[in-house]
Amino acid sequence: MWRVVVVVWAVVLGRLAAAATPYVCYASDQDPYLQFGTRTAYEFSAGRTAGPAGQSDVRGIPGCKPLMVWMVARHGARNPNGAEADRLRQITKLRDEINRNYEERNSKLCPTDAQNLQQWQFTFNSAEEDGISQQGREDMNLMGKRVRTKFEELFSAQEYSEQSYVFKHTNTQRAKISAESFAEGLFPSTQVRFQTNGNNDTLLKSYQNCLAWEGLVDGNPETLKPMEKFLGLPEFNRMVYEVSQRLGFRYNLTQDTILYAYDICRYEKANNIKIVSPWCALFTPDDLKLIEYAEDLRFYHNTGYGNSINSRIGCPLVKDMMYRFRNVANGVEDQPSGVFYFTHLTSVMTLLARLGVANDQPAPSYNNYASQTRRQWKTSALAPFGSNLMAVFFNCTGSSGSVEQKVVFYLQESVLPLPGCDAGLCTWDFVREQFMPLADECNVNRTCAGKDAAAHATLSIAALIISLVATLVSRF
Ligand SMILES: *[C@@H]1O[C@H](CO)[C@@H](O)[C@H](O)[C@H]1NC(C)=O
Ligand SMILES: *[C@@H]1O[C@H](CO)[C@@H](O)[C@H](O)[C@H]1NC(C)=O
Ligand SMILES: *[C@@H]1O[C@H](CO)[C@@H](O)[C@H](O)[C@H]1NC(C)=O
Ligand SMILES: *[C@@H]1O[C@H](CO)[C@@H](O)[C@H](O)[C@H]1NC(C)=O
Repeated sequence: MWRVVVVVWAVVLGRLAAAATPYVCYASDQDPYLQFGTRTAYEFSAGRTAGPAGQSDVRGIPGCKPLMVWMVARHGARNPNGAEADRLRQITKLRDEINRNYEERNSKLCPTDAQNLQQWQFTFNSAEEDGISQQGREDMNLMGKRVRTKFEELFSAQEYSEQSYVFKHTNTQRAKISAESFAEGLFPSTQVRFQTNGNNDTLLKSYQNCLAWEGLVDGNPETLKPMEKFLGLPEFNRMVYEVSQRLGFRYNLTQDTILYAYDICRYEKANNIKIVSPWCALFTPDDLKLIEYAEDLRFYHNTGYGNSINSRIGCPLVKDMMYRFRNVANGVEDQPSGVFYFTHLTSVMTLLARLGVANDQPAPSYNNYASQTRRQWKTSALAPFGSNLMAVFFNCTGSSGSVEQKVVFYLQESVLPLPGCDAGLCTWDFVREQFMPLADECNVNRTCAGKDAAAHATLSIAALIISLVATLVSRF
């Protein structure tokens, strides 16, 4: 009992202290804010509403027999790539300046946080650059184990065979290793065969070689404008000012410097979830939420509802899922029991956009941050490392003994409560009505050639190529 009292008092005192000085010791924060946008650790993603630490909503449903699990996953946690690492390496200079400020007693960092920063070294292994980390492998492996445990009957009823279980990954090392780690968790001690479509992957990388997307979205400077406008707002600069003051600077650090520190903080946490990155101590939770929003705006326009091409290039995966489910529903023989795809953020996000997930009204915009705190479009929830959409097809026995076909969608292994379904349990009829038209009309060739009505008929390939060349030039 007394323990509870002590804990309660500690919390109350903690709150009071927090009210007086907003920068408490990060190192001793028991509940740090870990929603770090697209570099969020899978384990901590707010998208995992079923809870962290290996918990999962994914489980069998009484009276239902799973017939197929279909999954698309982003690769697991990776280290900064070569170009990022080169930029981030400069942070050691900032570390030294922060240390000097601390020694001159200008800094408001708490002693533990300051000490952790003093001892910090740039440790990203260049041999692993852009490669999946040990943490990333482990996360994917545990994910595979959980899927097996929850749907044991799908995996133990028959021996592994290439026809029964499809594993496919993109042509990158991190997607390949993610697939292998997941498969090891799902089928320990079995030699699984992996498929890949090489450099021309219209299923798992429909955005690759997609002229319209590259020209109008990914390579178009307009795509970044909303984020840039947000970064230019007084409230963002106020955050930069406050961080600079906290660290004892008499001038404002640049936005880039602040964002590098943020990147190191989130890379370190995602690639070793047990550690505290001292770089995270530079920020209050409110600071972190502001930076998170900037990234959410970027991906809203780059991979989400901000541009209609994005959801259109998400259709090949919808089509793959729907056609496979249709076969299962119709009792077509020799369908695989498991289909597992390993790819990248853009594929997961554009798939979610095609399915209509997290389509906020009003839309997130550079000038409505205050009213978007409850938005669904949060990359921390939708696109952490290892982010995955899973759909499971069930034959259920209805009350009259008849077969009722159902589908459940899971995002980050938590049930996705689609409107029109019963607490996430959707009838196959509903899913078919919702998504089969999207599958049938899917034509990425047409979309990428700029021939969709939605992409405005005026788009000419020449204009695309000009804008592409312009972006390439500006990138180097
Ligand atoms: C991609 O593959 C398709 C057929 O699979 C082929 O027609 C097309 O030319 C390829 N594109 C590239 C860029 O290699
Ligand atoms: C730092 O930024 C704040 C907030 O934008 C601004 O008010 C202040 O004048 C800036 N300080 C310096 C030294 O530029
Ligand atoms: C599932 O139900 C459908 C429709 O009744 C039936 O055709 C199919 O054979 C069933 N599949 C299994 C494996 O029970
Ligand atoms: C897309 O275009 C490629 C090459 O032009 C072709 O091989 C492929 O069959 C087309 N795909 C569709 C779905 O039309």
